[in-house]
Amino acid sequence: MFESLTSLDADPILGLMAAYRADNNPRKIDLGIGVYKDPQGRTPVMTAVKEAETRILSTQDSKSYVGPAGDADYDELIARLLLGEDLADGLQGRRFTMQVPGGCGGLRLAAEFINKANPNARIWVSDPTWPNHVPLLGAAGLKIETYPYYDYENHAIRFEEMLAALQDAGADDLLLLHGCCHNPCGADLSNEQWHRVKELALEKGFTVFIDLAYQGLGDGLDEDVFGVRLMAESLPELIVVSSCSKNFGLYRERVGALTVICHSDQKLPAVSSQLAAIARGIYSMPPDHGAAIVRIILQDQDLRSSWDRELTEMRDRINGLRATLAQRLRDAGVNSDFSFIEQEKGMFSFLGINVGQVRQLIDDYSIYLVDSSRINIAGINDSNIDYLVESLAMVLGENQ
Ligand code: LMR
Repeated sequence: MFESLTSLDADPILGLMAAYRADNNPRKIDLGIGVYKDPQGRTPVMTAVKEAETRILSTQDSKSYVGPAGDADYDELIARLLLGEDLADGLQGRRFTMQVPGGCGGLRLAAEFINKANPNARIWVSDPTWPNHVPLLGAAGLKIETYPYYDYENHAIRFEEMLAALQDAGADDLLLLHGCCHNPCGADLSNEQWHRVKELALEKGFTVFIDLAYQGLGDGLDEDVFGVRLMAESLPELIVVSSCSKNFGLYRERVGALTVICHSDQKLPAVSSQLAAIARGIYSMPPDHGAAIVRIILQDQDLRSSWDRELTEMRDRINGLRATLAQRLRDAGVNSDFSFIEQEKGMFSFLGINVGQVRQLIDDYSIYLVDSSRINIAGINDSNIDYLVESLAMVLGENQ
């Protein structure tokens, strides 16, 4: 049965995690996988999460099945976190949210759902995009097209080229956008650009599909969903996959949500029943623990405030590190201009170095980053920044 199978290379991001763990160099730095790290380099369990877990442990009296759509209270709370109270009320009857096993589970479920709704659908993804978008969406049978997005030379969005490419997108197509904190490049659409994309979607009839993995880690919980809310209030249909991995630090619990907005309340039963059937055919129902934690936090004013405060600290730390890294590279006399790192948002930016230089950082300095030169800013701290800056200057040949 297995004779024809051949070994595959490690996943470009998950492979780095294993390589970093196996490295004995005491100066090693992990700027690879996108997990938040505190100033001590740890990925802590958030205080509100710990408290919610304590409550679950003491009050949960059953482990019986929940159902393919997960916890209904969680679903509603997540819809409100995404949409805000007014829009969530306004879209009542046209929206459906279901709990899914992490952002990846949501993306795959959405892809299967789209394929069912329209087997001719093409999905347009940004160049570059998160590498796992392609297998997640492609494996469900969706045809993938790319649109220009990031200008590596000028560290800017190729917005006019993006719009020009999307002239070819039609009513059978979907446009995948990163809701905020673009992974991998950290360059987000401005509010005005979101408006222009919305106008194009209305004109061409393509469906907007937003991957929202970092709400709260860019500019703020509400600010980061400007695009989601604009699309939700303006377009007849919308798909949003959101994740609680990063903003609740619940990576391994696999907790996310898929939200679909339909043009009319008549369509909602078809959408929700099709999604439930697809989930049933893949994983039956999502794991409960992480979603129960999120529900408890979002329902309790004190826990919600504690979570919000800790998320704000995380965001401020990332934004502070962006400014510090750019400044330290200037102070070290590095000629290349890294000021763009200060302008970009979220955990990631490209250093803009080539693959050979990336390999040198990994092999010679034990500094781990993705081949594309994407770094996780949160992996930087006071104890490793000097070594990082020195090593980068050496690799760039710009040490003065
Ligand atoms: C990342 O991009 O590093 C994260 O989203 C983790 C992952 O699964 O790739």
